[in-house]
Amino acid sequence: MDIKKCLFPVAGYGTRFLPVTKAMPKEILPILDKPLVQYGVEEAVEAGLKEIGFVTGRGKRAIEDHFDVSYELEHQIQGSGKEKMLDGIRNLIEQCTFSYTRQITMRGLGHAILTGRTVVGDEPFGVLLADDLCFGDEQGVLAQMAGLFKQFQCSIVAIEEVPAEETHKYGVIVGERLSDGIFRVTGMVEKPPPGEAPSNLAIIGRYILTPDIFEILERTEPGRNGEIQITDALLRQARERCVIAYKFQGRRFDCGSVEGFVDATNYCYENHYLQR
Ligand code: G1P
Repeated sequence: MDIKKCLFPVAGYGTRFLPVTKAMPKEILPILDKPLVQYGVEEAVEAGLKEIGFVTGRGKRAIEDHFDVSYELEHQIQGSGKEKMLDGIRNLIEQCTFSYTRQITMRGLGHAILTGRTVVGDEPFGVLLADDLCFGDEQGVLAQMAGLFKQFQCSIVAIEEVPAEETHKYGVIVGERLSDGIFRVTGMVEKPPPGEAPSNLAIIGRYILTPDIFEILERTEPGRNGEIQITDALLRQARERCVIAYKFQGRRFDCGSVEGFVDATNYCYENHYLQR
């Protein structure tokens, strides 16, 4: 079964970027001239996931407006030569459908994904965290994962090796190596305290999930930081069925941090903007 849907949990407050996120969603922060979330939707579309679902929250309406036409603006710039600056986003909008559901209380990524059940239904789906900005080597990261899904038909998490002193920021996996860069998950822990990480293989914000995850999430108790963690639900799925961890080919920038954001900006300027 092909994957058609991609969930974007975007309800988070973006506190690491205050004050800019006080009145503006962090997902709309630009890397050069494009908001972070647009890069994410482009990656999903490249992977064939064109039914986009946002798990949104208060203060996030700019995301809905971004993925819609702006008649007034388009009328204003008609004939000015600037229309082509909107070609990319218009083309994206035409290819996709967009659905929105609100997460009323912030109870963690697992809870956000469970909130998205109403727009996903009973089929496998992607999850993309827009503040992890990824550039795949030959294919986008979600496209690489969608290819693997055809082979394994189970949930897949993207992983990356991180320095030992950074493992406490991530979900960390251990697994049995099946082939180059592909592991069958045997253990998983959310944000292990320093010194307690079982490996340096960190989960980054790309997932393909099978829909049985929803029932598991319903039964998942709050974990690290008192939040319902997708990592805990995935560990149960790994024990009951199978979860694959995939070391993706490409680069990732943590745009939820100022350093990662600046690195991503410089990377895009050098590799994309100057090449235009
Ligand atoms: C979430 C997940 C974590 C994962 C990370 C990737 O954490 O809970 O397992 O490693 O995304 O970005 P967050 O960064 O939302 O705290």
